[in-house]
Amino acid sequence: MDSYNTTKQKNWKNSLLYLTFIVAILHLIHQSHFSRKLIIGNEKVHIKKNPQLPLRFRSDGTFKILQVADMHYGSGTITRCRDVLASEFEFCSDLNTTMFLKRIIQAETPDFIAFTGDNIFGSSAPDAAESLFEAFGPAMESGLPWAAILGNHDQESTMNREELMSLISHMDYSVSQINPLADSLTDSAKIDGFGNYNLRVYGAPGSILANSSVLNLFFLDSGDRAVYQGIRTYGWIKDSQLQWMRRVSHELQGQEQDPLHPTPPALAFFHIPIPEVRQLFYKEIVGRFQEGVACSRVNSPVLQTFVSMGDVKAVFIGHDHKNDFCGNLDGIWFCYGGGFGYHGYGKVGWPRRARIILAELQKGKMSWTSVQRIMTWKRLDDEKLSKIDEQILWNR
Ligand SMILES: *[C@@H]1O[C@H](CO)[C@@H](O)[C@H](O)[C@H]1NC(C)=O
Ligand SMILES: *[C@@H]1O[C@H](CO)[C@@H](O)[C@H](O)[C@H]1NC(C)=O
Repeated sequence: MDSYNTTKQKNWKNSLLYLTFIVAILHLIHQSHFSRKLIIGNEKVHIKKNPQLPLRFRSDGTFKILQVADMHYGSGTITRCRDVLASEFEFCSDLNTTMFLKRIIQAETPDFIAFTGDNIFGSSAPDAAESLFEAFGPAMESGLPWAAILGNHDQESTMNREELMSLISHMDYSVSQINPLADSLTDSAKIDGFGNYNLRVYGAPGSILANSSVLNLFFLDSGDRAVYQGIRTYGWIKDSQLQWMRRVSHELQGQEQDPLHPTPPALAFFHIPIPEVRQLFYKEIVGRFQEGVACSRVNSPVLQTFVSMGDVKAVFIGHDHKNDFCGNLDGIWFCYGGGFGYHGYGKVGWPRRARIILAELQKGKMSWTSVQRIMTWKRLDDEKLSKIDEQILWNR
């Protein structure tokens, strides 16, 4: 009981600290160009700009996602690029990462951006909040809905993982969440990590599935570092997270009987690969396998859970910047984004890159219906933003 009360008191204190912190942040950013100014009394307050929700397919029956893996943003102009040609080094900084993000948003015009962790690189970011605003700047300026999860480096600066996810969820046009809303789950407090949530994408406007979710996006916190049986290793996805996914998936599959509205396929996004991804070295893949899979020593039942859920068709990860392949494990695709940011390590002469995911609806007699096909390809940060490795991930 004592410890319960202490915890409660501590939580309360944390909340207060946290509130103060947010107010301070709001104060800080109200002067910057990110804010829309509103004056209440003498205080200027930043009101978060929200995208139009729910997420939905376009009237041409498509929904396009841009995956940005491992931006490793530091603090702007002074942050040097790693693994670029000697001739490129002098004029290369975080601003090249920003430029790449702006260019690819313009070229691909996605409907949604998914940032899969190591968005900022702690040790080069003296002020985490400032780095986040710069790193996600092009996404906020684009007005597109975007979501982020954390990698293993994001919290190495001035904010912990909970604070980071909280700030990210309050940024303009962000649809990120810290964890599932309490009303959708009675024991949400028990989910491990910060940044576990799902986003439903609705059918095309005016179609028979305009008010139904036809695609589900899962975001998971794969943690940072951990010690397991006395050995230092990476984090892993815990049972509490998998149980929550099962529940969400089960809820969505309730509609299964309706032939017009079959179970919506799901995609999952997290940072650290699962150990089974190593097996893909011996299998047919699309893209490059150029470095060892840096995963946790703990092999939690992520793959088994996804297989038994049945709705997850593809998983998008980051963490290993020199891997950019897609490979299939037990019927589920595992795709790396490939390193995006210039301050993250990479391979000299091998351009930074991003992944695009395109879901397409089936054309019914009268209107668009459920998801028919899911494709993916990558774009390189070269002069032409070359498109490579286009492939079909799923066909109903
Ligand atoms: C980085 O950006 C500068 C300025 O636009 C450009 O001149 C340079 O070529 C870029 N470097 C790389 C490696 O893309
Ligand atoms: C979806 O909801 C809107 C607003 O409530 C309604 O006008 C429309 O008819 C609904 N469409 C379908 C297919 O149920």
